[in-house]
Amino acid sequence: MSEQQRRGGDGKFGRYGGQYVPEALMPAIEELTDAYERYVLENEDGFMDEFRERLRDFGGRPTPLGRADQLSERYGVEVYLKREDLLHGGAHKLNNALGQCLLAKYMGKERIVAETGAGQHGTATAMAAAHLDMPCEIYMGRRDINRQRPNVFRMRINGAEVNPVDIGRGTLKEAINETMRDWATTVETTHYVIGSVVGPHPFPSMVRDFHRPISAETKRQSVEAFGQLPDAVVACAGGGSNTMGIFSEFVDPGGLPGTDPANNEPGAEDDVDLYAVEAGGSSLAVDEARGVAPNSASLSTGTEGVLHGARTKVLQDGDGQIMESHSVSSGLDYAGVGPELANLVDEGRVEAVNVDDDAALEAFHRLSQDEGIIPALETAHALAYLEEHDDPTELGEYVVVNVSGRGDKDLESAIEETAKRDLPNAPEMDVFDEHGGLR
Ligand SMILES: Cc1ncc(COP(=O)(O)O)c(C=O)c1O
Repeated sequence: MSEQQRRGGDGKFGRYGGQYVPEALMPAIEELTDAYERYVLENEDGFMDEFRERLRDFGGRPTPLGRADQLSERYGVEVYLKREDLLHGGAHKLNNALGQCLLAKYMGKERIVAETGAGQHGTATAMAAAHLDMPCEIYMGRRDINRQRPNVFRMRINGAEVNPVDIGRGTLKEAINETMRDWATTVETTHYVIGSVVGPHPFPSMVRDFHRPISAETKRQSVEAFGQLPDAVVACAGGGSNTMGIFSEFVDPGGLPGTDPANNEPGAEDDVDLYAVEAGGSSLAVDEARGVAPNSASLSTGTEGVLHGARTKVLQDGDGQIMESHSVSSGLDYAGVGPELANLVDEGRVEAVNVDDDAALEAFHRLSQDEGIIPALETAHALAYLEEHDDPTELGEYVVVNVSGRGDKDLESAIEETAKRDLPNAPEMDVFDEHGGLR
């Protein structure tokens, strides 16, 4: 496979990717592909300079890479945390939302639409749109609205309209469908800010490139902190944007012109092991009859199919019907995954692993108690992989975990889900009496 094919320059990553969209959307996709190539890849009109400046001044980049002292001791390896939770908005999502809203401006679009699952992408898009003075509408499944109320308020406070989606299960898949429907009728004036490395070309490549600073910084900061690249990088995978963000410069160093190189041995990237941790949910077993997969592990258990405009690995039944997915974290609750990540797993460059809901909740409490960082439930999956590993020292001496987001948005869910379980490390949650006083 050519380098161009592997990187998706033609919209294909091996067997995956492509542009499976209705005819009505093709002009918008072609216009966007042209804008991606000119502004992002060639820095026309200084677009990427302005993007990097705004990421620094509005977003707060670079985010730190810090040693996790207690986890390092617990696992017998040097654990470093890449702190995307400290990016403005509390998750990696702002990199992409800001990039796409700015691109929409350069393209002369007047309105932003976006879908959201956990609400982090919706929040980031609402913030970026407000920052760039653009009207913004966010589609969100009703079930996710109930799971992520703080983020719904944040979007509204930032001036976005939040449109509840009642069809299907009311999660991310349905929200994407509704946003696509809106876009199909408003393409002249509107840009659809997709929230992960999914969808038709150029979205997977473009979203990866907006998240590429995570990887470039990680490399540079690793060399500064411990004198070499990490032995392993671990990130949670829903659609795969934080994964591709932190993996991209290890898979394809210098793949985007203008990215600062790190001071590492040439070719050392190939020795860095990359782990994408999926949501194993409550079980990896699939109920074909009911069309339900009680997990979101499409890399581990999915099969080749088309979802949201791209060929990729999806959770589907024998007739090609997309199954209902499940995860305790709404940001991982998705039946597909980005085509580039699917290809990297097929090629053996990335290892797909998974942890279940219980392990993720335990990891949520562990990082909060041991390191003073409340992680997003999505991120907790990446952290749980260290705990679930039979022997974490096999991962190497230096392990970087991408802390994709902070957990403030998850407090209600975490309390509810913790109360349902007998977790060995959870604090007492039922601490208030019926008058709201402390027991
Ligand atoms: C904090 C956080 N991490 C990870 C994800 C999963 O998305 P992706 O796989 O695109 O990084 C989400 C999605 O909402 C999120 O909010």
